[in-house]
Amino acid sequence: MTKAKKGNLFGLSGSVKDQLAQKMLEKRLKKVTELQMNSENKSDGARTRKSLLSNSKISDDFCRFDKFPGYQQIRILEEGGKQLGVPSPFFKVHEGVASNVTHIAGQEYINFASYNYLDLCGHPDVSEAAKNAIDTYGTSASASRPVAGERPVQRDLELALAKLYDVDDSIVFVSGHATNVTTIGYLFGPKDLILHDSLIHNSIVQGGQLSGATRLPFPHNDWQALDELLFQQRKNYERVLICVEGIYSMDGDYPDLKRFIEIKQRHKAFLLVDEAHALGVLGKKGHGIKEHAGVDGHEVDLWMGTLSKTLASCGGYIAGEKALIEHLKFSAPGFLYSVGISPPLAASALAALKLLDEEPERVLQLKERGHQFIALAQEQGLNVGSSAGLSVIPVITGSSAMAGRLANACFERGINVQPIFYPAVQEGMARLRFFICSSHTEEQIEHTVNVLAEEINKLK
Ligand SMILES: Cc1ncc(COP(=O)(O)O)c(C=O)c1O
Repeated sequence: MTKAKKGNLFGLSGSVKDQLAQKMLEKRLKKVTELQMNSENKSDGARTRKSLLSNSKISDDFCRFDKFPGYQQIRILEEGGKQLGVPSPFFKVHEGVASNVTHIAGQEYINFASYNYLDLCGHPDVSEAAKNAIDTYGTSASASRPVAGERPVQRDLELALAKLYDVDDSIVFVSGHATNVTTIGYLFGPKDLILHDSLIHNSIVQGGQLSGATRLPFPHNDWQALDELLFQQRKNYERVLICVEGIYSMDGDYPDLKRFIEIKQRHKAFLLVDEAHALGVLGKKGHGIKEHAGVDGHEVDLWMGTLSKTLASCGGYIAGEKALIEHLKFSAPGFLYSVGISPPLAASALAALKLLDEEPERVLQLKERGHQFIALAQEQGLNVGSSAGLSVIPVITGSSAMAGRLANACFERGINVQPIFYPAVQEGMARLRFFICSSHTEEQIEHTVNVLAEEINKLK
C-alpha cells in the first residue's frame, strides 16, 4: 500500500477516514438492500396491475439490468474498495494447477485459496483417468442419465461413494451447490421444517427456500438450542430436516455429530451432513466426520458432499438408503432434468477416491500443517476464531477494509489468500480465509504466519 493511500484526509487519520468511508458504504448498501426487500415483498398481483395501467409509467427500476438492487450493491462495493484503496481481489487468473503454490501473471505465490486439500487435482493418476475417460466416452454425457443412459464410470463412482459411507447407494449430481438445492428443494415442502446451523452454506439455505418449508437457523454448533427448538416446534410440522456441515466452510470448526444424531433420533427428524470440507480431512483415513466421530453410516440420513474439493473434480453427491437414492434418481429435478456428470469428471473423482485410500499420509500431512498454522497464529495473537486447525483457518481482521488491505499486502509479499467481506460474513467478522493443503511445507506456513503478523501490525 502506498503512503498516499494511508495519508491524512482533512486532518483525519487513515483509520478514521476508513471508518467514515465504511459507514457510508454500509449506509448505501443498507438502502439498496431495503429496496430489494421491499420489491420482493410487494405482491406480484399489485405490481402487474400497476404495470398494466400505463406502460409509459413503468419505472426504469423494472426494465433495466443496471437498476437491479443486487447489481447496485456490487457497484457500491467496487466503488467503496477504490475509495479505500483496496483493489478487487476477485477473479485472479492462475496459470497452472493451484496447490501449495500457484502462478499468477508470471509470479509464483504461496497459495491458500484453493480447495485442493490433498493435492489430487493435478495428480498424474487423476489426470490420466480423466484423459482415458475422454478417449473412451468423449467429454460430455450429452443428456440426463435416464435419457442418455449410463457410462460405467458414473455408476462406479456412486458405488464407491456408497462404500465410503457404508450405506446402500449414492447419487451424483453435476454441481455440489445444485445437489443441496435440488435434494432439499425437492424432498421437503410447505408443511415441513428445516433447521440449520446459523453458519450453514448458501446451497442449503437456497434448497430450504425452494422447498417452501419453514426454515429456522439454530446458533452455531449449539445442539442444546436445537434440541430445545425441536421440543417446542416438532409437533407443528410433518417432516423435519436438520442440516449441519462436517467442517464449516467459513470458520473451520465441526459439530459434535453424536449429539446431533441423538437429537434427530429423539425428535424423529432427518439429518443431513454436508461433507464438503471434511472429506479427505477428518478421520485417520480422511473419510470425514463419520470416521472422526465413529458413527455408523446409517445413523445419518443424507451424507452430502462435493467432488470439487478433495476429489479434484466437479459435482456433488448424496449417499444414503436405497429408498432415498432411488427416489432422487427418478424425481429430483436437478438429476432428472440435468445432464449426467461428464465421464472425465466422474473418472477423476473416482481416481481421487482410490488415492485417498492408497495414500492416507496425505491426510496426516494436511492435519500437521493445519495444526502448525493455528499454533503459530495463536502464538502471534492472531484471531483464528473457533477453527480446529484443519482444512479451513480464518484470520479474523474485523473490518472489511482491513481484510482487503491485508490480503493485498500478503499478495504483494507472494502469498495468495482470499479476503471474505461483509455481507458474506457479519461486519466486524471480515477475515482472510486460509485453505490448507497436504503439500504446504513447514517453511511456507511459518513464513506466511510471520508475514501476516508483520502486515497486521503495519496496518493497525
Ligand atoms: C459446505 C459447502 N457445501 C456445498 C458447496 C458447493 O459445492 P461446489 O462448489 O462443489 O458446487 C460448498 C462450496 O464451496 C460448500 O462449502
